Amino acid sequence: MMQSRLHAHIGTLRQLEILLAVHDRGGVSAASEHLHLTQPTVSIQLKKLSEAVGTPLYNIIGRQVVFTEAGFEVVKTATDVLDSFARLDMSLSSMRELKSGTLRLSVVTTSKYFIPHLLGPFCERYPAVDVQLNVGNRQQIVERLKQGVDDFYVFSHPPLDIETDSIEFLSNPLIAIAHDKHPLAKKRNLRLKDIADEPFLIREQGSGTRYAIEEHLRKLKIKLNTRMTIESNEAIKHAVMAKLGISIVSAHTLLFGGKSGLVQLKIKDLPINTNWYFVWLKSKRPTVIATEFLKQVEGEGRDLLRKELKLSGIKNQ
Ligand code: PGA
Repeated sequence: MMQSRLHAHIGTLRQLEILLAVHDRGGVSAASEHLHLTQPTVSIQLKKLSEAVGTPLYNIIGRQVVFTEAGFEVVKTATDVLDSFARLDMSLSSMRELKSGTLRLSVVTTSKYFIPHLLGPFCERYPAVDVQLNVGNRQQIVERLKQGVDDFYVFSHPPLDIETDSIEFLSNPLIAIAHDKHPLAKKRNLRLKDIADEPFLIREQGSGTRYAIEEHLRKLKIKLNTRMTIESNEAIKHAVMAKLGISIVSAHTLLFGGKSGLVQLKIKDLPINTNWYFVWLKSKRPTVIATEFLKQVEGEGRDLLRKELKLSGIKNQ
């Protein structure tokens, strides 16, 4: 952007509007009539504008207004400025009516399984709204939250040291999975200590799933035999199918991501009961779009996901 302080001397946009009216209507009296102002008011405002610009904008010759070269330049700029405001007005009102604008979401990796199911009905209802979905692990999404660029963040463990508001909208049971031919697959009443020697596959540092598993194991004073750290839920599922080990994942990774070749182990110390939260910065004023989306999540969105979770047959032990 070019640097200039001229705008700081120009009194008001109203003065530019008056100048344009004089130019377009061809005189002070026609402009006064058009703007419902008295002629002296129009003349005083134009005088102030000339003084601010530091040069005469027009001369009265005979009874005619004749613009100076500087006057024409100011008229050109006034047209651009007022056009920009007209465009701004149009885009703000279309945002108010949800005919344009953007919904920005940053969500943790594991929630990517169900977020699209919430976005589907919203996008259908408001096809002109652009959606930007950013996906990362918990640590990455905490960083985004600190920057505050998005409308909402989705976590199962929202950070406690940032001032946020949130709604809890769905349970997130973490369950143990094994490949369907695993010797423990059919066993009932297992305890976590029964799987302590099994090769265990776990998400990377910074993952919320890993954080919840480590907390749970710490409380129960159990150590698992971690064999591999894997940065993706899908890769973990495939590694389990490939008999590389067992794992604990969010039930949602099976519900919406498919579960063929996998079984849920029946372990009494599971599931780890966590919940999903929609989180937003307390200091950020919600846009009309964000408010509408939250309304949908709190209403039909939550119901839809609960129904699907029930139908899936993924049970809490
Ligand atoms: P993750 O997050 O995808 O980073 O594991 C899930 C969560 O916050 O529970």
